[in-house]
Amino acid sequence: MSKPPLVPPLKCQGIKTKLVAEIGRVAQTQDFERWVEPFCGSCVVALNVQPKKALLSDSNIHIIRLYQEIQSGNLTAALAKSFLEEEGNKLRTEGEPYYYAVRERFNASPTSLDFLFLNRSCFNGVMRFNRSGKFNVPYGHKPQRFAQAYVTKITNQIRRISEVISSCDWTFAATDFRQTLKLAAPGDLIYADPPYAGRHVDYFNSWSEADEIDLADILKQLPCGFILSTWHSNEFRKNALIEKNWDDSRFHVLLREHFYHVGSSEDLRHPMIEALITNFSVHAAQPEVKEMEQLAFFERPVAAM
Ligand SMILES: C[S@@+](CC[C@H](N)C(=O)[O-])C[C@H]1O[C@@H](n2cnc3c(N)ncnc32)[C@H](O)[C@@H]1O
Repeated sequence: MSKPPLVPPLKCQGIKTKLVAEIGRVAQTQDFERWVEPFCGSCVVALNVQPKKALLSDSNIHIIRLYQEIQSGNLTAALAKSFLEEEGNKLRTEGEPYYYAVRERFNASPTSLDFLFLNRSCFNGVMRFNRSGKFNVPYGHKPQRFAQAYVTKITNQIRRISEVISSCDWTFAATDFRQTLKLAAPGDLIYADPPYAGRHVDYFNSWSEADEIDLADILKQLPCGFILSTWHSNEFRKNALIEKNWDDSRFHVLLREHFYHVGSSEDLRHPMIEALITNFSVHAAQPEVKEMEQLAFFERPVAAM
């Protein structure tokens, strides 16, 4: 059985925890000196691929600040533990009004510890900001959220990832993907995981078809390899942008099906096919499935997933 992935302390939409093994295997087929991730989000992919050298960027300054503070040692597991214990006690006794007090405090003067607290106690672990850049996710209605076991779990995550970060040469930057990709050089491997077009409209995460086209144009001109994550299809529709942007023999589309849950019941499992698009061939020995390459790295047959 493969090792469980290293889980970061932050949750975000589109987190790729379930795909890190496949992305890692695709990355391992390439010789690269630096990993560049212009939409690093929770950083779960870099934390599991563990490249020696990396440039990890995202437009969300709060995510980047948290990782920079873990890297510099300003945010330690011990600090997070005492903060979450203390704030968790207040949440337990004061409930909902306390969550909103922390949210107001964070929006007036953002800190990484408040960000962590909100990320782990808001509704569904969603990360969303309004058009003025204010965190606006409602309360998750779990006053017991920061029970001892949960605080220990988060602090262990911080301890483990700070060990990984301190053993590597990584740079974190709060920048737009266009700026990050200007720095791409031969010898880099880019992993790009943009938001899904049209799905979010939020300060850090608005993503239009024009952004998608810009990204495709930039990726096509890179002096190095890239892996682009996107969705391929679900039971209702297909991603037309794949054909529009990537229907060219220089690019390879690898597919992987997984199920996401809507609601609490197993019956509400919905299949989603994820795509990894690369500008290099990952496994020449594998048979082509029509014009798409089937991702050969299933650990279980698709039907069983
Ligand atoms: C799908 S998420 C990435 C998830 C990440 N791979 C993970 O597993 O956690 C997309 C990320 O893109 C960031 N983003 C949105 N627009 C951006 C832009 N123009 N430039 C850079 N990052 C952007 C968002 O803040 C978000 O963190």
